[in-house]
Amino acid sequence: MKKILVIVGSNKSIEQSNTANLAKELVQNIKVKGEVINAEFISLGEKNIQNCRGCLTCTKSGKCPINDDLEKVKNRMKEADLIILGSPVHISHVSSIYKNFLDRIFLNSTVNPVSMLSPQMAVVNKRQKSI
Ligand SMILES: Cc1cc2nc3c(=O)[nH]c(=O)nc-3n(C[C@H](O)[C@H](O)[C@H](O)COP(=O)(O)O)c2cc1C
Repeated sequence: MKKILVIVGSNKSIEQSNTANLAKELVQNIKVKGEVINAEFISLGEKNIQNCRGCLTCTKSGKCPINDDLEKVKNRMKEADLIILGSPVHISHVSSIYKNFLDRIFLNSTVNPVSMLSPQMAVVNKRQKSI
């Protein structure tokens, strides 16, 4: 069995998120010969992931001192064969919670390269009309 983890940087639930729906279509089209695909979706908006404090403790100890849901998400990432990262477009950029997620995980990755462990894909979702 191949495990796909979809991390969605929307403030909405997985059911409500356009980005999640887009990623679902993508996941439905992923086929790995002879393997059953198991996909798990996480909406960062439904997790308690606090803002990066910029303390850089993670670069020294390999661990973020903030005790919230990030560690649980990282553990799910370690178990995944493929990680799909998705964000809605917010003011021509990724959403703030998605960016904060990268801030929290990126420096830590230089010590403990969790985000490098699995192949990754990115999905960016915007509205159809320009604003
Ligand atoms: C604060 C905010 C800013 C947005 N900025 C843009 C933008 O710059 N360009 C765009 O095309 N859509 C923008 N959108 C629309 C979202 O990208 C669009 O509704 C998206 O499908 C929402 O995804 P979600 O349902 O996964 O949260 C913005 C939405 C919000 C809430």
